[in-house]
Amino acid sequence: MAEIQIAPQEPAVRVTRSPLRGLTGLALAGASTAALLGVYAYAIEPLNIEFACVEMQINAPGRLPARGLRILQLADSHFCGGNRTARERKKIDRIRRLVDGLEYDLLIHTGDFIHYDSGLELVRELLAAVPAPRLGRYAVYGNHDYTHYNMLVTLPRMWRTFQNLETARNRGANPLGRVTLAASRLPRFVWYVRNTPLDGKPIGANDTDALSALLQEMDYQVLHNRSVHVIDPSLPLDIYLAGIDDLGQGTPHLADALAAIPAGEPAVLLSHNPDIIAHPALDRVDAVISGHTHGGQLQVPFWGPAHTQSAHLSRAQVSGQFSRGHTQFYVSRGIGEGIPLRFRTRPQVTLITLYG
Ligand SMILES: [Fe+2]
Repeated sequence: MAEIQIAPQEPAVRVTRSPLRGLTGLALAGASTAALLGVYAYAIEPLNIEFACVEMQINAPGRLPARGLRILQLADSHFCGGNRTARERKKIDRIRRLVDGLEYDLLIHTGDFIHYDSGLELVRELLAAVPAPRLGRYAVYGNHDYTHYNMLVTLPRMWRTFQNLETARNRGANPLGRVTLAASRLPRFVWYVRNTPLDGKPIGANDTDALSALLQEMDYQVLHNRSVHVIDPSLPLDIYLAGIDDLGQGTPHLADALAAIPAGEPAVLLSHNPDIIAHPALDRVDAVISGHTHGGQLQVPFWGPAHTQSAHLSRAQVSGQFSRGHTQFYVSRGIGEGIPLRFRTRPQVTLITLYG
């Protein structure tokens, strides 16, 4: 009879994990993910400029070519120069490649050419990189073309404004209401920041005269509260292109911008800031082309755009196409940024084809 041998069993080893090791692992994974996202938002997405095509239909029968009027829009270049020069040159090179061989009728820049005066030479390089079309180059100014800001004090400034609003609210509230207001103050402040244009502190003027001289030299017409008649019977083409000065830092005047346009004539308005949507006389305009919002710059899960930079747009209108009444809007996410981060809001140049 065969002998059955039974191997001696090794005593079971009990492995115990320290909960601290698990937490450390989680923290390391979180920090690595945050670092990777930070690198992407700083070094990759802001340079990854897209070429966008949109179509806009306005009520202008017989005034626009059957193939549409092709308007190439640049917006919010925000050039700083200095230690950002190499990064900004990469953007210009990318745009040069994107528009190489492209056919368009009008070229526009809807403002925020510069962030600081030190970015002016890069503006020159950008404008030289995008060829002039047959029907001309037009521009309006943005707030940054007039002013530079300290954004580091934005939140304290907004907290002060919010507190002033709270004081007024508290004055009208009963004791129970005051307790409720105090208990909900922080989340309401978060909501306030989410839905209010960021309030950076203006700390100096940019040299708008030098920018004007450069634009003149580069054959750009600044539509400073005025319009031009864009006409070419051979296409056919017969519309008005108007521009309004920046709503925040400029001297905007919509009536002046539209004064030379006869009643009932088709009108397209360039306005750096899309908050022109709130102007009661805007229904005179068939289309508005804007920038300013940068698409919120960061599209955060469960939050949406980090900010809209607008007092009158809904969060869904932070970029892209929408309409109010018969007025069509297009808001570009722009090329550049002050705070050099973008997440799920790629910069863009846009070819807008306008149909009548
Ligand atoms: Fe801007």
